[in-house]
Amino acid sequence: MKLIRTTSYEELSQQAAAEIISRIQSNHRLNLGLATGSTPTGVYKQLIEDHKKNKTSYKEINTFNLDEYIGIAKKDPHSYHYFMCENLFHHIDIPLDQTHIPDGTAKDLKEECLRYEQFIQEHGGIDLQILGIGQNGHIGFNEPGTPFDSRTHIIMLAESTRKANSRFFDSLEEVPKQAITMGIASIMASMEIFLLVSGTSKAEALARLMNGAVSEQFPASVLKKHPNVTIFADNEAAALL
Ligand code: GLP
Repeated sequence: MKLIRTTSYEELSQQAAAEIISRIQSNHRLNLGLATGSTPTGVYKQLIEDHKKNKTSYKEINTFNLDEYIGIAKKDPHSYHYFMCENLFHHIDIPLDQTHIPDGTAKDLKEECLRYEQFIQEHGGIDLQILGIGQNGHIGFNEPGTPFDSRTHIIMLAESTRKANSRFFDSLEEVPKQAITMGIASIMASMEIFLLVSGTSKAEALARLMNGAVSEQFPASVLKKHPNVTIFADNEAAALL
């Protein structure tokens, strides 16, 4: 794993965005894996700014999001569909039918997991996957204990994750209890991975990732086994290294 330390969240966002843009420039048909949460929003802002200024085009790009809540309609402002449209898709020239997110309202959710996994593979797999990290080490919504060989699946959210994400909802009760997430093996199949880590609240998780053992109890630790991972961390997140 290569670690890039930056002095601020803004610099983290700029540096990661610059690398993403260079991957898009060298492959107009890049399959780009995307994440939600607060951390990647700065990168998305940079991508939008660059698209407006420099006309970087996403017309042939396909995107694949990591996860989606179960039981939340796409049009609901709490859905990750909505989040991605607001924070990225509506501001660049990507055709919406080339943006892919698991459907958390599918009638048959198990079937939806299989479909999504196969769909990614049929598209040739993910070239570059953007990841954030949960305080408990989750990647996507793969909570501690998720097997490393897991593919896209249904997961029960940890209480700590529901609490952390309750800031986006009116109350904790409204936070869904389940989600569909790409599995650990699905994420590891990506050719390249960028992990974005920002803020004091992630310092312990980053220290555990860098210094701790590879264990299913700390899902992000699996990234040590991937040949092409770059971690972008700001000073606050890197404070315990
Ligand atoms: C969410 C998402 C993850 C994200 C994580 C951290 O639960 N499912 O993909 O990486 O939480 O989010 P944040 O960047 O807001 O700290």
